[in-house]
Amino acid sequence: MILTRIGIRGVRNLEDAELQPAAGANLVYGPNASGKTSLLEAVYLLAHARSFRTAQIRHVIGTDQKGMLVHGHIVDPEGEKENRLGIERTRESTTLRLNQQTVRQSSLLAQKLPLQLLTPESIRLLEQGPGQRRRYLDWGLFHVEHAFHSAWNEYSRALKQRNAGLRSGAKPEQVRLWDTSLVERGEQISRLRERYVESLKDTLSRISERLLGFAPDFAYRRGWKKEIDLESALEASLERDRQHGVTSVGPHRADLVCLVNGVPVQDRFSRGQLKMLVCAMRLAQAEHLAQVQSRRPIFLVDDIAAELDPDRRNALLAILRESGVQLFLTATEREQLDVTGWESRKMFHVEHGKIAEVV
Ligand SMILES: Nc1ncnc2c1ncn2[C@@H]1O[C@H](COP(=O)(O)OP(=O)(O)O)[C@@H](O)[C@H]1O
Ligand SMILES: [Mg+2]
Repeated sequence: MILTRIGIRGVRNLEDAELQPAAGANLVYGPNASGKTSLLEAVYLLAHARSFRTAQIRHVIGTDQKGMLVHGHIVDPEGEKENRLGIERTRESTTLRLNQQTVRQSSLLAQKLPLQLLTPESIRLLEQGPGQRRRYLDWGLFHVEHAFHSAWNEYSRALKQRNAGLRSGAKPEQVRLWDTSLVERGEQISRLRERYVESLKDTLSRISERLLGFAPDFAYRRGWKKEIDLESALEASLERDRQHGVTSVGPHRADLVCLVNGVPVQDRFSRGQLKMLVCAMRLAQAEHLAQVQSRRPIFLVDDIAAELDPDRRNALLAILRESGVQLFLTATEREQLDVTGWESRKMFHVEHGKIAEVV
């Protein structure tokens, strides 16, 4: 997908801006604290209706502003179909718009604008608990598997009810009432995730080989014992679950493990290697999406120069260029990142919140 226009008002320190990004690389450069990450944040807000820097979206509103507004035009380069996305936030409420209509669910915007983010914090995908890795898988499934989103919503609802029941000391026969949809949706989610991991593996290996020189093994752990189905697993853990007041088995406990010679990568790899592996994981998802739907996500890449040496940086940029995605990337100096090989490119200079296209 290509963001052909973006309008920004009242976002952090940024002055009001109307930009027409290039279909290829957009290099955003400027000194520290000038507003570069805030510009990426504005793009991210359009897709997710939340920020990647704060759980409180109102903190994104500029200090002296009553509210903020981000709107953008998204086109699909092949179909040339245009969608207009908008998010407006006042101190009190958020309004989302899709093609001039107010919409309730942020998933409607997310669906139109698949987005991949790489920041210095992205390494958490491998360093932290399994939640991030489940979200990683679910990003892909959300975009490629029609049934996934509603299956996940139903599963979450049933899980919430079951947990509330467990906490309030419900009897076993009451708890079992929730298990029907939990089992049905849980098994479905598991199958979809397993299939997704399988279909991602080859691409993931190939890109890891290229960026890291070798490919780790990825395996999906579904969140309950191998030999049994989810229904039996829930039954087997019922007593323990009643004691703890929480459901301990199911796809909400799944993980995507990543091993090198049988050891988890996070125990073996250097920070730089982990960072490259995260890049490989994100790129693999992008390529998979392009294969199955001819849609390419937009990449937001913040501050890579800060952590990757020039060779790694260039390797990453080369793959991004070949993959044909639209890219927004930040640097403190324009010479730090070489985008001269991109057929379509623009540069934006940011200083004290003022964004100016450099011609
Ligand atoms: N809500 C806000 N209102 C006004 N300014 C803010 C707000 N939040 C952060 N800032 C300021 O915006 C500036 C730009 O931040 P940032 O986009 O992270 O810069 P960069 O990525 O260029 O280093 C910082 O000086 C920060 O203190
Ligand atoms: Mg920054």
